[in-house]
Amino acid sequence: MEKYKVLFVCLGNICRSPAAHGIFESIVEKNHDSELFEVDSAGLYSGHQGQLPDRRMRHAAEARGYILTHRARPVSSLDFLDCDMVIAMDDQNYEDLMHLAPSVEASRKIKRMASYLTTHKISYIPDPYYMGHDGFELVLDLLEEACANLYRTIKDEMTVKA
Ligand code: 4NP
Repeated sequence: MEKYKVLFVCLGNICRSPAAHGIFESIVEKNHDSELFEVDSAGLYSGHQGQLPDRRMRHAAEARGYILTHRARPVSSLDFLDCDMVIAMDDQNYEDLMHLAPSVEASRKIKRMASYLTTHKISYIPDPYYMGHDGFELVLDLLEEACANLYRTIKDEMTVKA
């Protein structure tokens, strides 16, 4: 069976999207679902290509048990061909992905990460790059909740289709 491929996208691919990538992968592994999902992340800005996630994000994530080892890469219109879902962290990411999508069908794969939040009342995942330590903790709080709800949503869809 083809794996369900989720691609998390932010601007630099060194803070938010690699953290979402690591958190979602950890949920998949804890639920013994690695054969069902493929998880990846990418950035709209290619300036950090090849780099590990920002040290501050790696440290904050590690304290919660997530080891982030992704190397930054730019998102491409080809990503839409093999991804089932492309998840934008903020409104600018969403708009940029909409422009990159090669077809109307591809554009339907784009979702906003904040749409999976339930208890936090915020419509986007803020960029922590110029924020202090609390910013990274807030982003991880938001991503943990959104990833858990996203995982449940996709699993429910799989059950309906099966
Ligand atoms: P991210 O954060 O989009 O969450 O990876 C950023 C990291 C770097 C830059 C912008 C955002 N930057 O412009 O270098």
